[in-house]
Order: sequence, then C-alpha cells, then structure tokens
Amino acid sequence: MKGLILSGGKGTRLRPLTYTRAKQLTPIANKPVLFRVIEALCDAGITEIGIIIAADTGAEIQETVGNGSRWGVNITFIPQSAPLGLAHAVKTAQPFIGDDRFVMYLGDNVIQGGISSLIADFVNHPEWNSQIVLKHVEQPEQFGVAILSEDGRIKSLVEKPKSFISDLALIGVYMFDSHIFEAADAIKPSWRNELEITDAIQWLVQNGYNVYPHIHEGWWIDTGKQDDMLRANSYVLEELTPAINGTVDLQSSVDARVTIEAGAEVINSVIRGPAIIGEGTRIVNSYIGPFTSIYHHCTIEHCEIEYSIVLENSSIQDVDTRIQDSLIGRNVEIARGTQRPKALKLTLADYSKLGIQ
Ligand code: TTP
Repeated sequence: MKGLILSGGKGTRLRPLTYTRAKQLTPIANKPVLFRVIEALCDAGITEIGIIIAADTGAEIQETVGNGSRWGVNITFIPQSAPLGLAHAVKTAQPFIGDDRFVMYLGDNVIQGGISSLIADFVNHPEWNSQIVLKHVEQPEQFGVAILSEDGRIKSLVEKPKSFISDLALIGVYMFDSHIFEAADAIKPSWRNELEITDAIQWLVQNGYNVYPHIHEGWWIDTGKQDDMLRANSYVLEELTPAINGTVDLQSSVDARVTIEAGAEVINSVIRGPAIIGEGTRIVNSYIGPFTSIYHHCTIEHCEIEYSIVLENSSIQDVDTRIQDSLIGRNVEIARGTQRPKALKLTLADYSKLGIQ
C-alpha cells in the first residue's frame, strides 16, 4: 500500500491565514496538521508517501516536510496544476501510485485513533476495490453522505442531501485500487468545476466495483475553518501526554495536563491544562487557560488567553480583556491600548499588528 496526502487546495475558508501559508502547516497542539497525517500513515506501516502540493504553497510544504527521513519514510511531492478537485488530485498522482493500492488522506483532517485498523481491513480484503471511511454526523445536509445496501456495501453517494437520506458522511480517508483512475477519467467536472471524489466513487459503484464502508467511531475534524481548527486543537490537547521541559518559577502554578517545551519560561503565571507552551516562549504575569496552544518563540505578558492558538514569534502584552476563541498568526504584535470593549475575538493574519484602543 502507498499513501497519498492531499495538501494542495485553495484554503479559502481559512483566510487570511492561508494568504501566507498552507493551512496544512498550521500547528494543532504545536505540531503541523500535515505532520500528524504523515505520522498516522507511518503508524499504519506505510513507507511510500506522495504529497499533492499546490503552486503557491508547495515550496514551503516541501521545505518544512523534507524527504521523510525523520519519520523513516520516502516522501515524493506531486505538484497539481490547479486545485481542480480531489479526483483531479488522484489523477495527478497516477504516475506515483502506478498499480498499487493506496490510502488517500486529506492533509487538513485530524482523525482520532489513527488509521492502522482501517488499512489492515483493506489489506485483508484484496477483493475490495475501495473502502471509504464514514461517520455518523448531526448535520448530514452539509456533507457527502453514503447509503448502504443490505449486504453492507456502499449503494450510492449523495452530495449535501437536501432531505434526510443518511447520516453517514464521508470523512477524509479513502482506500482505492487502480480502478479509481478509470473512474476519475470517466467523470465530468461538477458545477464548481472540480472533479469530485464522490462522483468517482459513485462511478465505481455503478460500474460494479466493490466499495465497502468503514464506520469511524472516534472524533474526526476537517480543520478547514477557524472554529474547527480550535476544536481539533482542544481534542488533540486532551490526548497529549504532558511533559515539562522548560522552566517554571516558584511563583507560577502549572497544572498536571500542561506541556512546556524546551527553552520555554513560565514566570509568575498560571497555566491550566490541557495546554501547551512552545519552545523558547515566555509566559510572564499571565494566565493561560485550557485548550490553548502557544507556539514557539512567543511572548505573552500580562494577559489571559484561553481556548486559542497562537503561532510562532507573536507577542501579546498588557491586554486587560481575556483573549479567547482566537487563532492568532505568526509575527503578530498586540500591544496595550487604553479603551475597552472587554471582549476580544481575533483572527489575525501572519505579520498582523494590532493596537488595542
Ligand atoms: P478542501 O478543504 O475541500 O478544499 P480547499 O483546501 O481548497 O479549501 P477551501 O474549501 O477552504 O477553499 O480540500 C481538502 C484537502 O484536499 C486539503 O488538504 C486541500 C486538498 N486539495 C488538494 O490537494 N487538491 C485539490 O484540488 C483540492 C480541492 C483540495
């Protein structure tokens, strides 16, 4: 089995952060989402991994990920000419995949518990042409959903159904054999001018190929939007094994579910977990509340921050209103102003500067 990670796309829903960086490189609990995806494939024993990249963000992804040696895998980068859909990405990867069976994983998705058992299931059923991962969801009208037949196969797929037909949504992991290339060649672009993977899977079903479901019971998050990014951060923080590798002074209180990375300093502050403080970051006279990730080389001084993500090299000082539900980019500076309002809800792009009035 090979692995194919889709890390191109436009990332419009996560603007402005995606103006300056691939969304797949945004850290969740201080590790890029894409690294978590690569690790999930490695844990499942996959050593040949292709990563689809886009023209604007591909170079940064290549530079950040490297050749895979740090995970003991081989990584091949596959440029996609334009973000023309998931099935277009599959077609683009055909020379890399060849005749192998493969798992395709969306590079902005986080799935609880990894994918080892799924992959084992597919490997153990060589007669299956495809297996798709489904999850019961509360708002099926927002997803592509699958209808199962009585013998347990996929009977049909419907994109964003207007009335209820199934609550089993397709999530970002799919397994295929090389028949998917025939399917991707056969389908036409959708109304949004993309080659849709749901149409390609539907083509497999209609042409008599065996497509089986796997129902995922744990959580799954597509980190395509800010709220989802924060939710994924909170779920991953809940599962992190805490470790204190930086320094905490005697005036500070750091609870049991906190990770302090190497070179970080906590001075006269309170940190309530689950939370993580990145390498070289200084937390001074502040409160860091649950479900917060502060990335590397930040300064947080005289502030309260909760349920938020702060990216590298940002500085937040003397804010007298608690910051929460916020995703703050790289190199952001927030300095003290004189006036209220009391609530801060921020989406700041990389390199933004905010003067609080
Ligand atoms: P999406 O989140 O569906 O699309 P997007 O990244 O373009 O984002 P938005 O809808 O906010 O504009 O993509 C899911 C994953 O697949 C994501 O990691 C990007 C990747 N992708 C590709 O690699 N190639 C493509 O052509 C598309 C559409 C997505």
